[in-house]
Amino acid sequence: MKVAMLTGGGDCPALNAVIRGVVRTISNQGGECYGLLEGWRGAIQGNAIPLKPQETDEILDKGGTILGSSRTNPYKKAESVQQLRESFARLGFDALVAIGGDDTLGVAKKLYEDFQFPVVGVPKTIDNDLDCTDYTFGFDTSINIVMESVDRLRTTAESHRRVMVIETMGRHAGWIACFAGIATAADYVLIPEEEVNVEEMCSVLKQRRAAGKKYGIVIASEGAKLPQEGLVTDTAEVDDFGHVRLGGIGKTLADLIERRTGIECRYVTLGHLQRGGPPSAFDRVLGTRLGIHAGRLVLEKKFGMMVALRGLKIVSDTLANAVGRNRELDLEFMREAEEFYKHV
Ligand code: F6P
Repeated sequence: MKVAMLTGGGDCPALNAVIRGVVRTISNQGGECYGLLEGWRGAIQGNAIPLKPQETDEILDKGGTILGSSRTNPYKKAESVQQLRESFARLGFDALVAIGGDDTLGVAKKLYEDFQFPVVGVPKTIDNDLDCTDYTFGFDTSINIVMESVDRLRTTAESHRRVMVIETMGRHAGWIACFAGIATAADYVLIPEEEVNVEEMCSVLKQRRAAGKKYGIVIASEGAKLPQEGLVTDTAEVDDFGHVRLGGIGKTLADLIERRTGIECRYVTLGHLQRGGPPSAFDRVLGTRLGIHAGRLVLEKKFGMMVALRGLKIVSDTLANAVGRNRELDLEFMREAEEFYKHV
């Protein structure tokens, strides 16, 4: 069996763990694996490299993806889908493992629906916003990066008696901000799923200062909306999948807090740091397990499916079930976090 794989969308810690898991599982049964370079772009161009199990032990701890990635959407141009199918046939592949977020898996789902394309999906994103899986790999690494950053920012915030606003990624879901907020004893957390109460936030920060706390930590998800400004975006540009680039709420918020509270304020946008570097142990294990199970689905020719984590088990579900729904933060986590930050 000749199996191709690709990684699409934003890179994410432990993509290489998944690749290694698929390669090992397919090779163990006598199959061959190939990597398509730079997401769907490589699939369209037929740009492939062989992947051998002996070479993949070295990639487990590497961040990013050895295959490269892109946000190319083959469905944007009708001829690209045809080219993709021709390249796939020319290279003699029997199956494709598509590792990516909702956009990448959306293409996989459509290819399966339109042509019965032999594809299996693996859900990926630091945002943890994919349906049908309890956690996506990359999320754990990302919240650890935010946590380490806030631990460092806290000491300088305290030295200068400042409020520090930390802007996190997460797109339209507050998983990263909320979990990082809990892990760092943040004074306030802003997420996209709930209306932001600026009055309350400023009052909490002022009351805590009056009670003797010499600094403040505010964690704001990039997709949170401010009552006056709405959604803050860096640019109006959209990618191949129609997503606007988020970013900028940290600065807006820092200005606002300083104006309203009189407390000196600084902001830090963690940006792509949250996706970089070696994956955590949790993500290495999760990525490896998802890769193994994706390989097994391919061997069993269970196409149009994707792997997922439910509880402690790796299960499978149809791409049709899993794709196209943004999984918002479970607000129970916010209610737990608020036990701390809504009281002085
Ligand atoms: O979906 C992952 C993510 O990192 C989001 O959290 C963020 O909004 C987006 O990708 C950034 O994308 P890019 O790397 O294209 O700037």
